[in-house]
This record gives sequence, structure tokens and C-alpha cells, in this order.
Amino acid sequence: MKALVTVTHPRKNSLTHAVMNRFVEGLKQNNHEVDLLDLDHDGFNPLYTAEDEKDWINPDKIYAPEVRKEMDRIAAADTLVFVFPLWQYSVPSMLKGYLDKVWNMGLFGKMGNKKVLWICLTGGDQEHMSKYNREGTLKHYLNVLVSGYARVQESRVELLYDTLSESEEHIASLLERAYQLGRE
Ligand SMILES: Cc1cc2nc3c(=O)[nH]c(=O)nc-3n(C[C@H](O)[C@H](O)[C@H](O)COP(=O)(O)O)c2cc1C
Repeated sequence: MKALVTVTHPRKNSLTHAVMNRFVEGLKQNNHEVDLLDLDHDGFNPLYTAEDEKDWINPDKIYAPEVRKEMDRIAAADTLVFVFPLWQYSVPSMLKGYLDKVWNMGLFGKMGNKKVLWICLTGGDQEHMSKYNREGTLKHYLNVLVSGYARVQESRVELLYDTLSESEEHIASLLERAYQLGRE
């Protein structure tokens, strides 16, 4: 299986990057092929311009080379994995820009056989995330609305809670969970 792993965080020494690294180690342990996209450090420009707009009449519109390159990477992958911190109960703007630009109409009809996994690091603990249906709302947004809009049929969200904890044991358990998810 080939996985396109997309990570979003401005700091390479972040927990988000550590989680991504452990996840990738798990993938490699099970001999999966990995293509890594680091949105913040690979120079992806999330700013949506008029050039990026959908052409409602022409489904074969040719998008900008940067967008086409990312669409080709998606086409070559079986599974798309996103590793990101929860910001304002949503994805960071960098990832939102990627989704706006790349998961566009040009991909419609080509995503049905892809699996998508969203690995989201939340500052809030499990109790905080269950209150006001925060967790349910986020899962509905990512699995049903975002993945559904792109016609993805298999989408799953995994939350890694309480990421600001000072407990080394807890942080180690999050990294172990990331490793096991990669192995899965
Ligand atoms: C701009 C910003 C917004 C955040 N919004 C939320 C939020 O809505 N809910 C939450 O539980 N944590 C929130 N947090 C905490 C992050 O989820 C937390 O910092 C992250 O999971 C820790 O991983 P990191 O060390 O890789 O950044 C926010 C943090 C930042 C910087």
C-alpha cells in the first residue's frame, strides 16, 4: 500500500512532527510505501487565487503546476493521511488552503477508491472534546462534509488528546498510538 502522508505544523520539533515520524515508522515497519508532504516546509502556498477557481463548465480544466503536482501524488497513493494540530476546532489554515486548492473539482470521481485518515492532535483532553459534542462535530466535518464533498468513501478520524500534558508517560502513549496506527 502507498500512503501519502501530509503533515501541517510550522515547527519541525513539534509534537505534531514527532507523531508524524512515529506514524511513518509504523508504516515502514509493515513495508508500506510512504510519500511525505510537509506543507509548511516544502513551500506549499496555501493562498487561493483566481487561477485556482473551479471551472464549472470544463471539468478538464488545467490547474496550476503546483496543484497538478499534488493531484498526481494523490492519484499515485492508496491512502491519504493528514497529521495536524486542532486549531479553533478545525484544521490549520495551511491545511485548509491545501484542501481548497488541491481537493477541487479536478479530483471529483477520482477519490472513491482512496482511504483517508485524519490524525488530529487536540490540546483538550477526552472529556473536553466530548463536551458540547466537539469531537462528534469535528468527525462529522472531516468524515462526512470534507471527505464526502470529494466523494471519498472511507474516511476516519483519530484524535490524540491532551497534547499539552506535562506527563512524559502520556506523551509517550500518544507516540505509541501513532506508531500502532501506522502499523495498521
Ligand atoms: C492557534 C491555535 C489554536 C488552537 N486551538 C485549539 C482548539 O480549538 N482546541 C484544542 O483543543 N486545542 C487547541 N489548540 C492547542 C493545540 O491543539 C495544541 O497546541 C497541539 O495539539 C499541540 O501539538 P504541537 O505541540 O505539535 O503544537 C490550539 C493551539 C493553537 C496554537
